[in-house]
Amino acid sequence: MSQTLRDARTYEEQRERFISPLNRPAFHLSARVGWMNDPNGFCYYQGKYHMFYQYYPYDSHWGPMHWGHAVSRDLLHWAYLPAVLAPDVSYDHAGCFSGSAVELPDGQHLLMYTGVSREMADNGALRDVQTQALAVGDGVNYRKYQHNPVLTSDDLPPGGSRVHFRDPKMWREADGSYRMVAVNLAEKGGGQVLLYRSEDGYHWAFVSVLAENRDRIGVMWECPDLFSLDGKDVLLASAQDMLPKGFEYHNGNGAFYLIGRVDHASGRFLEESDHAADYGIDFYAPQTVLTPDGRRVMIGWMQNWDTCNLHTPSTAWFGQMSLPRELHVKNGILYQTPLRELDALRRERVEHRDVTVENGEMTLPGVSGRTVDLEIALEAGDYARFAVWFAKNRDYHTGVSFRPHESVLKIDRKFSGSRRAIIHQRRAKVRHEHGRLKLRLILDRYSVEVFINDGEKVMSATLYTELNADEIAFFADGKATFSVTKYTLAD
Ligand code: FRU
Repeated sequence: MSQTLRDARTYEEQRERFISPLNRPAFHLSARVGWMNDPNGFCYYQGKYHMFYQYYPYDSHWGPMHWGHAVSRDLLHWAYLPAVLAPDVSYDHAGCFSGSAVELPDGQHLLMYTGVSREMADNGALRDVQTQALAVGDGVNYRKYQHNPVLTSDDLPPGGSRVHFRDPKMWREADGSYRMVAVNLAEKGGGQVLLYRSEDGYHWAFVSVLAENRDRIGVMWECPDLFSLDGKDVLLASAQDMLPKGFEYHNGNGAFYLIGRVDHASGRFLEESDHAADYGIDFYAPQTVLTPDGRRVMIGWMQNWDTCNLHTPSTAWFGQMSLPRELHVKNGILYQTPLRELDALRRERVEHRDVTVENGEMTLPGVSGRTVDLEIALEAGDYARFAVWFAKNRDYHTGVSFRPHESVLKIDRKFSGSRRAIIHQRRAKVRHEHGRLKLRLILDRYSVEVFINDGEKVMSATLYTELNADEIAFFADGKATFSVTKYTLAD
C-alpha cells in the first residue's frame, strides 16, 4: 500500500471521531470525512452492497480524487471501510476518477476507474490525460493492476479526446463476457458514450459509439450506465452545461436518461425518449445495481456542481448520496420509488384523512420531524396553491407548493438557512386531475426527496437548516382537501 493511501486511511479514521452521527443523514450515505461526489463501483459483492465514492478526505471541497468505501446489507445503513484508491502512481497522480466494479469468476473484486495524469500540450500548457485503469481486491484492500492503464487514447474512435475519456461502468453478461460504457468528448465538441467488450475483465476492446450528444442535453456527458428494464434499454448519463428545454434540463449540470433499444448489429442506441432523471436541485452522476432479487436500484450524488462549491461555513463532511430508488420503465418514463427496505424504518404511524385547509396555514397533531416519510394525497379542489412546509420554525422553512392551474410543482429552499445566492427553487410540470395529486416526501435531516405520482418524477434537494427546525405545516390559497400518512423514520 502506498504512503498516500495509508495517510488517507489514518486521516479519515482519526477525523471521523469528531463527527457525531446525529449531525449526518440517518439513512443516506455521506462522506466519511471531507468531500464526496459521484457514487462509484456500486455493486453487490459477497453478501453485501458496496458503495465507493469520489472522495477528498482533507477538505470539504473537491481535491485530488481518492475512492472512499462503505458497505451495507440494506442500502440504508452503511458502515465505512478504509479508502481503497489514492492518486499515487504516474497514470493517476492527478486523481482516481469515477468507475465501477464487478465480481470475477474466481471471487476477486475488480474495479475499473479513470486515471488522470498531466502532459504538456503543444502550446506548452499542462493538460489532463484520462485513461482507464484496474484494481483487484477482496472487498477491503485493492492492488492496482500491473499492466495499467488498460484503455488509452489508442482505444478511442477517430477524433476522440484524450483529455475527456472517463467514468467506465462495466457489467458481466450472461455468457460470462464483460461490457463497459465510458464517456468521451468527440472532435465535433459533443459528448459520446462508447461501448467496450472484454472476455476476462482485463483485456478490453472498443466496440462502437453507442450514443452521441448531437447538440442537445448539454455538451460533455459524464458517468454513463446502461441496463435493460421492463423490455427496454435505458442509458443513464449526466450532462454538463445544459440549456433548458421546456421544463427539462434546468440544472446546468444534471442527470438524464434515454429510453430505447440497443441495436446489437450496429452497436447503436436507438432512442425513443429522453428526460431529466430528477427535477429538483441536487442529483448527479447516478449509478445502478441489480439486487440479488432482480430489482434495478439507482443511487445518485445528491448535489449540484453549480452550487456545491459555494457552501458555507466549512463543514467536517460535505456530500451525500440520494436514497436508493427502485426503477421501472412505463410509457417512456423511468419511474423511481424509494427502496422498499425503507418501509422497515417506519415508526409512529400518524394518519389524518380528509383534512381541509382553507386560505391559510395549519399544522396537524403528530406531524413533524426531520427524519420523516410523509404521504400526501391531495383531492380535486378549488384552490390556486397548496403547499407543505417542513424543516420549519420561526426563522426557517423549505417547501413544496403546487399550482393546479399551471400544473406546476415547485420546490423552494430559499429560507432553509443558505447564505449564498445559489439556486433555491426548481419547478416541474406534473400530471393531475383537477388538483388530485400524490406526493411522498422523504426527509432525512439535511435533504428532501419528493416522489410525485408514485415515482413518475422526483425532486431532490439538500438543505442545511438547523435540526431543531422540525415543524411541518400545510397551506392553501383557496380550499384544499388532503389526506396525510406520516411515519418517523428510524436510524
Ligand atoms: C462527475 C465527474 C466525473 C469524474 C468525477 C471527478 O461528477 O466530473 O466525470 O469522473 O466527477 O471527481
